[in-house]
Amino acid sequence: MEGKRELTREQKIKLIMGADFWTNYDADGRLYTFVVSDGPVGLRQPLDRTTTEQSDCIKSVAYPSVQMLSQTWDPVLAYEMGRSLGNDCIEQDVDILLGPGVNIKRLPTNGRNFEYFSEDPYVAGVFAREYIKGVQSKHVGTALKHFCCNNSETSRHWASMEVDERTLREIYLRPFEIACEAQPWTVMCSYNLVNGVRMSEHEKLYGVLRNEFGFDGMIMSDWEAVKDSEASMNAGLNWEMPYNEAHQREMLAKAEKLDEKKLDASAARVAALADKCEAESKMRRQDMTLQERRAVAQKIEEEGIVLLKNEGVLPLEAGKVFVTGAPAVRYYYGGGSSNVYPERDFEPLAEALAAEGVDAEYGESVWETNGHQSHLGNLKEAVLRAAQKDVTVLCVGEPNTCEYESTDRQQIRLSKEEEAAIHALAEASEKLVVVVYAGAAIDMSDWIGEADAVLWAGYGGEFVNRAVARVLTGKVNPSGKLTETFPFRLEDVPAENAYRDEAVMLYNEGLNVGYRYFDTFDVPVLFPFGFGLSYSKFVYRDICLEKSGKTVTVRFTIENISDADGKETAQVYVREVTKEVYRPYKELKAFRKIFIKAHECRTVELTLDERAFAYYSVAKDAWTVKPGVFEILVGVSVQQIMLKQKIVL
Ligand code: GLC
Repeated sequence: MEGKRELTREQKIKLIMGADFWTNYDADGRLYTFVVSDGPVGLRQPLDRTTTEQSDCIKSVAYPSVQMLSQTWDPVLAYEMGRSLGNDCIEQDVDILLGPGVNIKRLPTNGRNFEYFSEDPYVAGVFAREYIKGVQSKHVGTALKHFCCNNSETSRHWASMEVDERTLREIYLRPFEIACEAQPWTVMCSYNLVNGVRMSEHEKLYGVLRNEFGFDGMIMSDWEAVKDSEASMNAGLNWEMPYNEAHQREMLAKAEKLDEKKLDASAARVAALADKCEAESKMRRQDMTLQERRAVAQKIEEEGIVLLKNEGVLPLEAGKVFVTGAPAVRYYYGGGSSNVYPERDFEPLAEALAAEGVDAEYGESVWETNGHQSHLGNLKEAVLRAAQKDVTVLCVGEPNTCEYESTDRQQIRLSKEEEAAIHALAEASEKLVVVVYAGAAIDMSDWIGEADAVLWAGYGGEFVNRAVARVLTGKVNPSGKLTETFPFRLEDVPAENAYRDEAVMLYNEGLNVGYRYFDTFDVPVLFPFGFGLSYSKFVYRDICLEKSGKTVTVRFTIENISDADGKETAQVYVREVTKEVYRPYKELKAFRKIFIKAHECRTVELTLDERAFAYYSVAKDAWTVKPGVFEILVGVSVQQIMLKQKIVL
């Protein structure tokens, strides 16, 4: 703490806890008051800052979900979204944005998967790093969250995640390690325990965060994650959120007995952040208009939409289109603290299609009510209307009563009424396009065979239907790819079968999370990690590897052999052939999204550094590369490998 400002012990105790839900204690006017606010995909500032309720909030730009952002496979868009959010924060006088969340999608049922990037730690880390850089480029801070292993919502306040050291390092800590390269101003600890110690009191993992990942900011708790203020402070937590009268009273009562060094250390972290926010606030200048920020939201959705199936129906040709399903006329989003109140009126899909010159009309068929209950409103009439049109576009999905913070999904199929509507409309329609508005993998195996095309719109933000309309009509060539596996059945996911009770979740699948399991054990999936179709067609050729010390440069060419300009994401996986420990068959270590004009050829060059070949050795407590034979595989998804070549390191 700066010499000019010696605080009393009482002031320090007050300083290491929030003054309310969203601001710091100002030490009787001697410190700048900074404001923190949710959330990762848009500001959610309650009009009444003394509450965290989902009460009236200031309307803000509602960006697509973090899932959709990652499906763009374009880290530049992560930076742009961060920069745009930084502008939103400046407009609403917010000093620190409570995001991004980088928790790994271990369970498809996790109720907050829409808020997270991927099942793959490299994708999650790279996108979080660029997002943080974007926000902080506007002199606004971020809160990298939730540190760590907050991979489900079930009993999140009390359950201990039992994870072995190697899995912890390679899967669950890795995104934080990569994201810390952007030096987030703060990290938010999670509610849960890890290996029996509450994360708000996890001195060992705070040590990894600071001493190995180089994090030099303030560690805050998640809201009401602290059960013991003194133990948390002693472990290295710096700021308990939100204000808790009983906790503060206890701390003040034992003020003389508290560890003075620990108290000073935490108080200094909070004071330093206040000083930083004060200094940075003077340099804040908005440099994006509302229109420009809206354009970022629309662009991310257009680039993140994934074309999952297309059998001769998209892009739509001239003709009459019947639009039906709740998300065509109602805004779908994930519930909880990341919720945003859009500053723009909802745009029905039929209107968005009409704006693109399509003869489209909406009619009700199936309507969700609550959770997985839906009712088949006017399905009979809808079937008759569909029969008179050229194409039916049926919108289905999971609203915020299905996917929301504090609760996990119990299953991953659509409601039975929505599945019934799909069957009925498939029967009646010349062509059926299903558009899915959900935040996490959906088991489509019951009906996908009857759909001519399937589009994943996800939780697409306030421009969702404009983006969907532009993809359906071909104004936008779909280029999104999945960053999480869509299993055929929930039972196929090892983590879903792992031991759990009210106190413990056993991560006994170890490294075998997502594609690391399905690909290694050849388990069929509905859609693999990295999958996504395009209106273009790409051919890969001429892989060439060049070694320089412990890094390898990978070069190859991609040709767009179609008549449609398009974007392709090439994924580079590494396989250790002569391994000495267990390793998943292959792991993603680099990727590049590239625009290629029709009938053009582009060369892609990517560099794999030493860490791309390493595993975490528990025997040596260090990342380790064993000299030997490795294979580099270039794929359009984890399953579809186009080029591969071995190299000796
Ligand atoms: C919530 C969430 C966290 C959010 C915080 C403030 O419980 O876990 O992501 O930023 O509390 O609303």
